[in-house]
Amino acid sequence: MWNNLTFCSVCKLAPKPTPLLLPRFLPLAHVLRRRCKGLSGSKPPAQTLQSEGLKRTCSLLPARLVSSKAKRRRYAKTYPVLDGRVLSVYRHVFEENLRNSEAVVKRYSELLELVSKGGGENAILRHTQRNKKLFVRERLKLLLDDESFLELSPLAGLNMPYGDVPAAGCLTGIGKICGVWCVFTANDATVKGGTIYPIGVKKQLRAQEIAMQNRLLSVYLVDSGGAFLPLQSELFPDKSHGGRVFYNEAIMSAMKIPQVAVVCGSCVAGGAYVPTMAEEAVIIDKIGTLFLAGPPLVKAATGEYVSPEDLGGAKLHSRVSGCSDHFASSEKEAYECVRNVISTLNYEPLPEEVTEHDGPLYSSDELLGLAPRDYRCTLPVKLILSRLLDGSRFQEFKADYGTTLVTGFGHVEGHLVGVVASNGELTRDASLKGSHFVQLCSHRSIPILFFQNTAPHAAEPTSISQAEAHSNRLKAQASMMAAVACASVPKITIVIGGCYGSESYVMCGRSFSPNFLFLWPNARVALVDSRHLTTVPQAGGSDSTDESELKHLKQRLEEESSAFYSSSRLWDDGIILPQNTRKVIAQCLQIIEQQKYQVVPSYQHPVIRM
Ligand code: COA
Repeated sequence: MWNNLTFCSVCKLAPKPTPLLLPRFLPLAHVLRRRCKGLSGSKPPAQTLQSEGLKRTCSLLPARLVSSKAKRRRYAKTYPVLDGRVLSVYRHVFEENLRNSEAVVKRYSELLELVSKGGGENAILRHTQRNKKLFVRERLKLLLDDESFLELSPLAGLNMPYGDVPAAGCLTGIGKICGVWCVFTANDATVKGGTIYPIGVKKQLRAQEIAMQNRLLSVYLVDSGGAFLPLQSELFPDKSHGGRVFYNEAIMSAMKIPQVAVVCGSCVAGGAYVPTMAEEAVIIDKIGTLFLAGPPLVKAATGEYVSPEDLGGAKLHSRVSGCSDHFASSEKEAYECVRNVISTLNYEPLPEEVTEHDGPLYSSDELLGLAPRDYRCTLPVKLILSRLLDGSRFQEFKADYGTTLVTGFGHVEGHLVGVVASNGELTRDASLKGSHFVQLCSHRSIPILFFQNTAPHAAEPTSISQAEAHSNRLKAQASMMAAVACASVPKITIVIGGCYGSESYVMCGRSFSPNFLFLWPNARVALVDSRHLTTVPQAGGSDSTDESELKHLKQRLEEESSAFYSSSRLWDDGIILPQNTRKVIAQCLQIIEQQKYQVVPSYQHPVIRM
C-alpha cells in the first residue's frame, strides 16, 4: 500500500509528521454539482461490457483518444513503439487460441447470465411483488452515480460442495457515489433470504480487505436472514468467519474509512450487526427490520406473537432503540439519504482531470488469439503488451537480459505503470531482473502490473550442474518474492495464462496481496498441470500407477484448474475478458489513486454507536 512517504513524493511535498494534509484540489460542493447525476445512468454496466461478444477486427487500428477537455499529457511520446504484428509463423497458434477463447468466453457469458438472475425468477417475483422490495441490481442503480461499476467476483459461489449460491448471495463491487469511489456490499435476498453462506462471508471479507487496502469508503445494503444455519460450523467459529466482518467494521472506522449501511430488508442475527456497527445507518419503513431473533423465536420462547415491525421496524429503531440514524419512507429516499451522508464525510474525491492519451496501435480484440489455450500455445508477451499500453509504447528495462521476464514502463490511459510480464520460465536471470525492477518501481512510487503466465512444470535436474542451476534459480526467485512482497506500491495482477506452482507467488499471486487480481477466462490455476501427472501419489510415499485412478485424478485436476473453478471460490477478484483488460486496469488505477487525496488522521479509534 502507498504509505505517507509515498504520498509525499507523489504530491511533491516534503514528508511531514502526521496528520498529513494532502492537497485538496476541488471544493466538494463543486464536485458534487458536477457528479451527482440523475438516478438512471446511461452507460452499460461493467458486467455487460465484460460479456460483450466477439467483435473481432483483424485490422490494425491506430486508435487515438484525444479529449477536447484534455488538460495535460501523461505519457512519454519518446518511449519506443512495440511491434505488435502477429507474424505468419504464429498464425496457427493464434487460431488455436482464438477457438479456445471463443469457447471459454461463451461459457463465461452463460454463467454471468445465470447469476444475474439471483435466486431465480420465482424468488425475484416473491421479493418484488410479495415483499415489496427492489431487486439488488435495481438498488445499485439508485445508489451509484452511474451503472458502470466494477463488479467483483460475480461468479463466486457457483458449483460449491453445498450447491450453487448465485454471486455468493451478495453483490460486491466498486462504484462512484457523489464522485467518490466506494466499495459496496449488497445482500441478494432472492438467494435463500439473503442468508450468509461460507462463500458469502469470504466475499464480504474480501470487499472489506479491498476497502482497507485502497482506503475506500464502504456502503452496505443489508437484507439478510443472518447465517445459513445448516452450514453454521463453516461460517461461525473461526477467525475468518462471520464475526470478522463486524471486527473489520470497527477497525475500518478506526482507520478513518467511513461506512454507511442501509437496512433494506430483514436483518436478523448476524445481519443485524452490520448496520449497527456502521458509522451511520438508514432504515426503510415497512421493509427494513432489525433484530437478533425474529418473531418465530419470540413466539417459541414466550408464546407471544409480535409483528416484525413492532419487534424491530424502522420506527422502533429510529425513535426508541437508536440502532439506526435515519428513517426513510421508501427505498429511493434511503439511497438519496446515503448520498447526503456521503456528502458530509468531508472526503475529497479525486480531481476529475482529463488526460490526453493514445490508444494502443493494435486491436484489443486480437488478445483473444494471444490468450494461450495452454502453456505450449504461448506467444511473445510483447504482442499482448502492444494491445494494452498507450500508443503501444514501452520503455523496456534490461531488454536483453533474463528475457523470459519482460519488464519496463508504459502507460494505461495516462497512468504510468511498471510492467512485469511472464515470457517463459522464470530463470535465475529473469528473477534477478524482476527483483531489481520491482524495487525500482517501489522507490519511484509507480504501481506495478503483473501479467502472469507461469510454467506448469519445471524440468527435473538430470545432472549435478543442473541441480546447482536450480538452486541458484530458487535463490533468485526468493529474492524476487521478497521484493514483490515488500514493494510499497499498488499491485495489480492479471493471470493471462497459467498460474502454476511457486512461480505464481513470485508473479504476485493471491497470497502476495495484490490490490486486485483478475483472470482471463482461458487461465489455468493449479499447483501442477494435470498432463504432468504420471503416477498417483500415495499416502505412504510410494507411487501407484493404477491407470483408472490416474485418469480420475487427472480429470479432477483438469476441472479444478479452470478459471471458473477459481473464480467461484474467490481465489481472484473475477474473470475479465481480454479485450476489456485495459479498461479494467485503468479503472483500478483510478480507484487506487483516490487514496492520494485523503486526509490521514493521527488518531486511531472507531466511531462507537451511543
Ligand atoms: N438458514 C437457512 N435457510 C434459511 C434461513 C436460515 N437462517 N432463513 C431463511 N432460510 C431459507 C428458507 O428456508 C427459504 O428456503 P426455500 O426457498 O428453500 O423454502 C428461503 O431461505 C427463503 O426464506 P423465506 O422465509 O421463504 O423468505 P422471506 O423473504 O419470507 O423471509 C427471512 C426471509 C430471512 C426474513 C426469514 O426466512 C427468516 O426470518 N429466517 C430466519 C432467520 C434467522 O432466524 N436467522 C438466524 C441466523 S443465526
